[in-house]
This record gives sequence, structure tokens and C-alpha cells, in this order.
Amino acid sequence: MYSEKVLEHYRNPRNVGEIPSADGLGIYLSESCGDITKLWIRVENGRIVDAKFKTQGCAAAIASGSMLTEMVVGKTLEEVQKITKEDVASALDGLPEQKIHCSLLATDAVKDAIYDYLKRRGLPVPRELEEKHENVRSQIEKLKTMGYILI
Ligand code: FES
Repeated sequence: MYSEKVLEHYRNPRNVGEIPSADGLGIYLSESCGDITKLWIRVENGRIVDAKFKTQGCAAAIASGSMLTEMVVGKTLEEVQKITKEDVASALDGLPEQKIHCSLLATDAVKDAIYDYLKRRGLPVPRELEEKHENVRSQIEKLKTMGYILI
């Protein structure tokens, strides 16, 4: 059910890991399945110059993290905020309909990393990023109190 490209990124994911002293760290937790992605970015002159991720999720989520971290390098923060789950799915030569939401882990984790970057520097944070961040943090707190292990 997966394209060759999805399988290739799933088997050999790019940019897995953390960036020490990253400029931003983002998290996205899926409400529908409980899977989670953490994503680190390094930013220079308003552009992402490096991105790494870790995912506790399905093959589509891993392939999406791999693809997205390749897509964002060299892009401005504004350009990255416009990347949708459909863009990532299409860069992977498609995802099955019921798996498209899995690419949201990557797209929203990078948006949360941008939130973190802007917040740390005292820069204006778009309302959409603020809302996404608050939503994910409250879900994470809920899971922590239930004893779930988070990456
Ligand atoms: Fe949870 Fe794919 S089923 S991210």
C-alpha cells in the first residue's frame, strides 16, 4: 500500500537524531493515534540550515519526518510554515488516504520548532503557531500524568 519512495525513506530515514544546542525544538502528538514526533532545527539568516527528528510512530510518520527534514533545509521560516501534510505526502509519491494524517506529525512538529525559535528570541509568534503549541503541550501533560513514556 506504500509507494517505493515511502518504503525507501522508512527503511533508510534521513536526518534521524537530535541537534545539540538547536535553535528550536518542536513536538507534535497525534490526537488520533497517540504517536509523536520531536524535531530540532538550526536557523541562520531566517532560513533553516539543518533539521533532525525522532518519531515514535508508523512507517508513514517516519517516512514523512525523513522527507520533511529534507524539504525544509534552505527554506525561510515563512516558506516552511506553508508546507502542508499534502505537500509531504506528494513529495513521497503519495500516501494512502487513511495515512495522510501521519505526515502531520512532521509538518506540525516543524511548526512547533519555529514557535520555539521565535519565542526564545522574543520575536512575534503567529497566533496559529501559538494555538498549536498550547494544544500539543496540554495533550503531553495529560499523557505524562497517565504514565506514558514520551521520546
Ligand atoms: Fe500514528 Fe501513523 S498511525 S502516525
